[in-house]
Amino acid sequence: MCGIVGYVGNRDACPILLKGLHRLEYRGYDSAGVAMVNGDGALNVYKCKGKVDDLEHFLDGKDLCGSIGIAHTRWATHGVPNDANAHPHYSESENIALIHNGIIENFRVLKDALIENGYTFRSSTDSEVLVNLIEYIRTTENCTLLEAVQQALKQVVGAYAIAVIEKGNHDEIIAARQSSPMVVGIGKGEYFLSSDATSIIEYTENFVYVNDGEVAVINRNAPLKVFTLDNEEERIHIQKLKLSISQLEKGGFPHFMLKEIYEQPHTLVDCIRGRINPETGEVKLSGVIDNREKFVNAKRIIFVACGTSWHASLIGEHLIENICRIPVEVEYASEFRYRNPIIRPDDIVIAVSQSGETADTLAAVELARKAGAFVYGICNVVGSSIARATDSGSYIHVGPEIGVASTKAFTGQVTVMAMLALAIGHEKGTVNKEYYQEISQALLKLPETLEDVLKIDAQVEDLAKIFTYAHNFIYLGRGYNYPTALEGALKLKEISYIHAEGYPAAEMKHGPIALIDAEMPVVSIATPDHTYEKSASNIEEVKSRGGKIIAVVAREDEQVRKRADYVIEVPVITDCLMPIVVSIPLQLLAYYIAVNKGRNVDQPRNLAKSVTVE
Ligand code: F6R
Repeated sequence: MCGIVGYVGNRDACPILLKGLHRLEYRGYDSAGVAMVNGDGALNVYKCKGKVDDLEHFLDGKDLCGSIGIAHTRWATHGVPNDANAHPHYSESENIALIHNGIIENFRVLKDALIENGYTFRSSTDSEVLVNLIEYIRTTENCTLLEAVQQALKQVVGAYAIAVIEKGNHDEIIAARQSSPMVVGIGKGEYFLSSDATSIIEYTENFVYVNDGEVAVINRNAPLKVFTLDNEEERIHIQKLKLSISQLEKGGFPHFMLKEIYEQPHTLVDCIRGRINPETGEVKLSGVIDNREKFVNAKRIIFVACGTSWHASLIGEHLIENICRIPVEVEYASEFRYRNPIIRPDDIVIAVSQSGETADTLAAVELARKAGAFVYGICNVVGSSIARATDSGSYIHVGPEIGVASTKAFTGQVTVMAMLALAIGHEKGTVNKEYYQEISQALLKLPETLEDVLKIDAQVEDLAKIFTYAHNFIYLGRGYNYPTALEGALKLKEISYIHAEGYPAAEMKHGPIALIDAEMPVVSIATPDHTYEKSASNIEEVKSRGGKIIAVVAREDEQVRKRADYVIEVPVITDCLMPIVVSIPLQLLAYYIAVNKGRNVDQPRNLAKSVTVE
């Protein structure tokens, strides 16, 4: 939620800040702004409601000079999206400007105290309270900006990544982090600051991740320094990160989402590379090799995740229970963290997160670690907070996912979970050779299978035209494909704004079947597995109540297609990997319906890619 970017060096700051904001727009896009100190020391803040493009128009004719600046793209938490609530925020005297990602939970108490001291407020944000608190401390205590930030943050309860600049100071940005991502890119005589290293990857490969409770002093004339709030200097670890810029561009596709759907055959090559021996089918995950005893002796595995990652975890539950015979629970991280859950030292908690920054998942990780469990991460973003907070893990390696609707991360997560289940099952001796080989060979063939699945694109596009104006959708699946149904429904609702529900197919008759009439499209997943006959009967139940059936079936299917109104044919691979195959046409269906409705597919309303507030 919210993207922050900063620059100090010898170049013009503004173009760098705006480019960074465009790359960070996936994190929030209801308002945006920049603050820069120009050559005369003036501190200029420009901000407006809307997207970064709107900000660019707003900047026409303004004084954009300065080689130091900070910028922000917002996802509203306190205060509606409008010009006043947009960041950066000036302090009362307009001597300090601040950008903030996160939530100051005790802002009301701090604000009341500032009002008593004569402060007034232009916005309804918690962030403006913080900039005024910094100014108040700076003036009353006559201390440096760094000291004022440190003291102010000691009074703050909540999550933040902030950056602050000051009138008359061309050289220095003060930045700090608590539970919200922040990274400093180190160039030659210049520094870059961002919520996400990918937004500044074209300028440098050298990054320093700011940790919780740290304040960075980013001064163009000095080496980067990082302090605690108590002013203890911390050691700096520079990490290398290499990424190609083409991964951050649309590459000829109209939307990032479509590009990312089409990338899946390749992203799964990257996900599997080095982990499955193509000759022998043997699966090796370093996280399992290094922690063999923990996995072999685990009494229980608990997945914690949100949204799409939670759906992938439900598939992980099937895979691990089936292949490793370890009991598995799947928890919404947001519920888990507040439920006083029972966590034992012989539990393994697996945190699943594309961004690696989801606040609830991160909090669940911290809770599990405190309780003594071994915590494993399945993340995409290298160096992200969850990846760093876990004991070990496996990256999914699907490259930057920029479209807000998660697609390639879902298939990457399920792929890693399948490899994880095989690796653990092998160590425990709970999987027989034939099934192990069946799955590992199918994993190796996934890239070519997905190329094959994608041939259905034009057919799904046509189908989408028929259903663009439906008001509701139901998605049904069983077994491994019950979570696929949930995921299909989530994709549709988040980008088309059509109400959609996913259900385990047999559960329909316990209530939801009352919703079925001729206006209700029902996407029924009925690919071959041990639930196929049951799914066919569930389709019959819907059909006999007039529902419109869109059946996802095997190419060679004979039975279900006779009852379906429309058919989506997919190639068949081993049952536990079918969610990866089936999710592709469901992603395409949601995509084309949303495009037909004229929705902003990559930046749907009210959403943000990375949910760093709870
Ligand atoms: C849906 C979607 C969200 C995320 C959820 C968790 O398309 O993207 O539901 O899956 O916010 O995000 P991560 O995986 O980054 O923790």
